[in-house]
Amino acid sequence: MKNLNNLDKQYIWHPFTQMKDWLKDKQLIIEKGKGIYLYDDKGNEYIDGVSSLWVTVHGHQKKEIDQAIKKQLKKISHSTLLGLGNEPSAILAEKLIKIAPAGLKKVFYSDSGSTAVEIALKIAFQYQKLRGKKSKTKFITLENAYHGDTIGSVSVGGIDLFHELYKPMLFKSFKVPVDNILKLEQLLKAKHQTIAAMIVEPMVQAAAGMLIMPKGFLESARKLCKKYNVILICDEVAAGFGRTGKMFASENISPDIICVAKGITGGYLPLAATLTTEKIFDAFIGDKSKTFFHGHTYTGNPLSCAAAIANLDIFEKENTLEKLKAKIEFLREKLDKYKNLKQIKEIRQLGFMVGIELNSEKAGLGREVILEARKRGVIIRPLGNVIVLMPPLSISLKELQKLVKITFESIQAAMRM
Ligand SMILES: Cc1ncc(COP(=O)(O)O)c(C=O)c1O
Repeated sequence: MKNLNNLDKQYIWHPFTQMKDWLKDKQLIIEKGKGIYLYDDKGNEYIDGVSSLWVTVHGHQKKEIDQAIKKQLKKISHSTLLGLGNEPSAILAEKLIKIAPAGLKKVFYSDSGSTAVEIALKIAFQYQKLRGKKSKTKFITLENAYHGDTIGSVSVGGIDLFHELYKPMLFKSFKVPVDNILKLEQLLKAKHQTIAAMIVEPMVQAAAGMLIMPKGFLESARKLCKKYNVILICDEVAAGFGRTGKMFASENISPDIICVAKGITGGYLPLAATLTTEKIFDAFIGDKSKTFFHGHTYTGNPLSCAAAIANLDIFEKENTLEKLKAKIEFLREKLDKYKNLKQIKEIRQLGFMVGIELNSEKAGLGREVILEARKRGVIIRPLGNVIVLMPPLSISLKELQKLVKITFESIQAAMRM
C-alpha cells in the first residue's frame, strides 16, 4: 500500500496550516471512526475531543445515520434544487422549521457555514432594497467575530490574524464590542439609516477562543435591532444542534435569520441552511427583479439531507438534549478542579463548548499541548493559546472524565513550570 503520509505531503495543501511545519513533521492519518473515537492508519485509538472540528453529534458510524445515507443512495445521490424539488430536502426543511427559533419559516440550503453566512448577508441587503430602504447597505458585527472564510463572511469577521490581510478585498462593516451595549445603541441611533443587518454568534464567539457573551447582550441586541429596523442574523454554525445545551443558542430571542451548518448532518456530510422569517421571504415575491439570484450546485443535496433527517430524529429518539444536561454539569465539575492551576488563565464553558486559556503567550504552545494529548490518546485542536474541548454530545461520563484528565495532563506536560 502507498505511504499515505508521503502522498498527503506531496499533494495536499491543508487548511489553516503553515505547510512548512506540516511537511517537516510526521502527521496522523485518520482511517476510521466509531462512536467518540478516531483510529489512525496504524490502528491507534483517540478520543475525538473536538468532534472532528465541531461537527460530530451522535458519534462516528452512528447506525441510524449510516442506514439513512445507504437508503438514500439506492434512490438518488444528487438532484438539483434549481427548478426541481427533492424528497429529503423538503422533509428536512419542515423538521428544521419545527425546531428553529420562533418566527423562522423558510429554509435556503447551501453547503458550509461560510455560504450560509454569505446568503444571510445577501438576503438582508436585498431585503432592505426591496422594501425601499436603499441606504440600508451596511452591516454591524462584533469585535473578535468569526463567520467563515469567504469574502463576505471575512468582511464581517474580526480576528486580525485571519482577516487583516484581506482588508483591501472586503466591504467595510461597523464593529462593536460585546461587553458594551451602549456602544451598539449609540451606533444604531446615529447610523441606522445606513445599516441593513447585524450579525452575531449567539451566546459564544467560538473561533475567538470560546468567548462567552455577557448576560443580556443578545436580548438587548434583539430589541435594538427591532427598534431600528435592522435585521438580526444569528450565526448558529458552531453553537447550533445542541452544543450550548439547547438546540439553538438564539432560541429565546427570535432572530430574523439564522445560519446553520456543521452539526446539521450529525457530522457526516457538508450541508448548511439559512433560515428566514416569512416577512423577509415575502419581500422577495414579485417579478423577476425581486428574485434572490443565489444558489450552489449541491444545494439541498439528497444524501446530506437524508443524513440530517436521521440526525434530528436521533435527537428526539435518544432524548439527546435532556441527557446532555447532566453531562454539562459533570463537565463543569471536572473542569472546576483545574481552574486554579498556575498553567491556566481562565476556563470558559457554555454547555459542551469549552475554551481553556493557557497562562502563557508562548508561540506554538497550543500545538505542544495537542501533541502531548495525542501521545495520551486524545485529539484536540487549539485556537492560539486556548485549548478547545467540544466532544460529541454522545460521549459518556466516563469518557468525558478521561478527556478532561488527559487534556490537563497534556497541558501540564507541555508547560512544566
Ligand atoms: C460561527 C461560525 N460561522 C461560520 C463558520 C464557517 O463555517 P464553514 O467552515 O463550514 O464554512 C464557522 C466555522 O468554524 C463558525 O464557527
